[in-house]
Amino acid sequence: MPKVKTLAKLFRAIADRDWGSAVQLARAVASEEESIGHRTAAQALRGSLNPNGKVRSRSAMTEDTGNHAAILGAALQPVRPALPLGDVVLRSAAREALDEVILEWRRRNRLQEAGLRHRANLLFHGPSGCGKSLTASALGAELGIPTYVVRFDAVVGAFLGQTALHLRELFRHAEMEPCVLVFDEIDALGKQRGNPLDVGELDRIVIALMQELEHCEAQGLVIATTNLATHLDAALWRRFDLTIKFPSPTKTEMAAYVRRTAKALGVRMRKRLRAEALRSKSFAGAEGVLVTEARRRVVREG
Ligand SMILES: Nc1ncnc2c1ncn2[C@@H]1O[C@H](COP(=O)(O)OP(=O)(O)OP(=O)(O)O)[C@@H](O)[C@H]1O
Ligand SMILES: [Mg+2]
Repeated sequence: MPKVKTLAKLFRAIADRDWGSAVQLARAVASEEESIGHRTAAQALRGSLNPNGKVRSRSAMTEDTGNHAAILGAALQPVRPALPLGDVVLRSAAREALDEVILEWRRRNRLQEAGLRHRANLLFHGPSGCGKSLTASALGAELGIPTYVVRFDAVVGAFLGQTALHLRELFRHAEMEPCVLVFDEIDALGKQRGNPLDVGELDRIVIALMQELEHCEAQGLVIATTNLATHLDAALWRRFDLTIKFPSPTKTEMAAYVRRTAKALGVRMRKRLRAEALRSKSFAGAEGVLVTEARRRVVREG
């Protein structure tokens, strides 16, 4: 049995993703076994370290770690919610579904004891400006974990297969750190397969995304958003544990939202302004009308 001290250092190196030290320590474990006459065990351990018969150099390992950090740094953009979840206008069905998600996450250890997992893969769909991205970031704040929006420009690689590798890095990260990982406008990645204009790489990306969603055991949540639900591959759609619709606001919802937002912005509601805000098709549209008015007021007074 290797010394606990060596194992503790090995675990520490893995936790720190210091792969160079991890490899050295793993070799030390094998040597310890050999030194007490456990030759077969030592051989088996060394074999596990080099499954393809190739010994990776320490510098190659360090390079991997550097790449890993570079990909995460470029692709994960931390975001903070504009509003707390309680202030987001949600239909009762959506609110109840999200309350369940929150409760499952808070009781995830109990679920685990029962051989179950919290629902982690969520898809938010609906028209533009109705709260999908806002809710995703507000959920992170509600759970007390960071929210990262995935930057597709950093994920999509120039070389064949690179995008799939980058996706894997992101999902592995979601398995290590409790966080909300948001694939905003996932239709950009998850278009229907078989599009004749795309030369295979798009198909591979969608397949990779589906595999990651299926196998990832995220500590927090993985949320995808889209306002082009019909463009999403049906098989990708099935990989989500829960799909929530964010519909266009009703007249009553919009009236309450306009009243509240105008008050928060200190905008006086004249009839014409109110009518213009209410004509908007989305909360974001109404907010835009009111912010423009607030801006005008400040400039006029200024
Ligand atoms: N349901 C809502 N409750 C309160 N404010 C909202 C709501 N929906 C939108 N807003 C306001 O509009 C802004 C933009 O909304 P958001 O980015 O969440 O829209 P979206 O549904 O993700 O749109 P898109 O599909 O275009 O990305 C929010 O930051 C917020 O100020
Ligand atoms: Mg959005």
